[in-house]
Amino acid sequence: MKIRESGMPKEDLWNSFFDVPKILSEMEINEKVEHLAEFGCGYGTFTLEAAKAISGLLFAFDIVEKLTDMVSAKAAEMDSVAIINRDFEATGTGLPKQSVDYLMLFNIMHHDKPEVIYKEAFRILKPGGKVGIIYWRNDIGVPAGLKISIRPKPEDLLTQYDSEKFSVYKEPFILEPYHFGIILQKIS
Ligand SMILES: C[S@@+](CC[C@H](N)C(=O)[O-])C[C@H]1O[C@@H](n2cnc3c(N)ncnc32)[C@H](O)[C@@H]1O
Repeated sequence: MKIRESGMPKEDLWNSFFDVPKILSEMEINEKVEHLAEFGCGYGTFTLEAAKAISGLLFAFDIVEKLTDMVSAKAAEMDSVAIINRDFEATGTGLPKQSVDYLMLFNIMHHDKPEVIYKEAFRILKPGGKVGIIYWRNDIGVPAGLKISIRPKPEDLLTQYDSEKFSVYKEPFILEPYHFGIILQKIS
């Protein structure tokens, strides 16, 4: 099932909200990451740049076929990227267990059942693998269209995972101008 809507505006406007290279760098998406999964790739705002930054394969999932078709077309020349039209909530990812080093959860943690995401995250991540979360700040005004009522705060996100399975690798930090980031690590 599609997660509840956050009010995603048109592509050009959406992309203007992010300094992609800076976010990828601060979220430690770099050549030390081999394989990476992305839940809810949307317009692919981060997908292709993330794929170029890592050393292995990137698997991006989205439930909306129009979006996966669009991102697949953009990634047509890249053989290290798989764009998959799939409901990660209903059917998981289909990736083998312990197969990825990093999971991107970018702008999707208004999910009302985060435990579903963490269950699949734990399954597919290698021991010591990272979960990178970015989300809209709650302490400032952010661009119109994003409902404040469904925006989790950093402290909310820190209560959503099982602390026997994940620990905080990088405490919540601001990603100017509109976001914050957190990196969790799967306990080995
Ligand atoms: C707010 S957008 C974020 C897109 C992208 N991560 C970014 O930050 O630019 C959330 C995306 O998650 C996708 N999505 C929502 N529920 C999903 C599900 N159950 N399975 C796969 N994708 C889903 C939506 O279609 C949408 O493209």
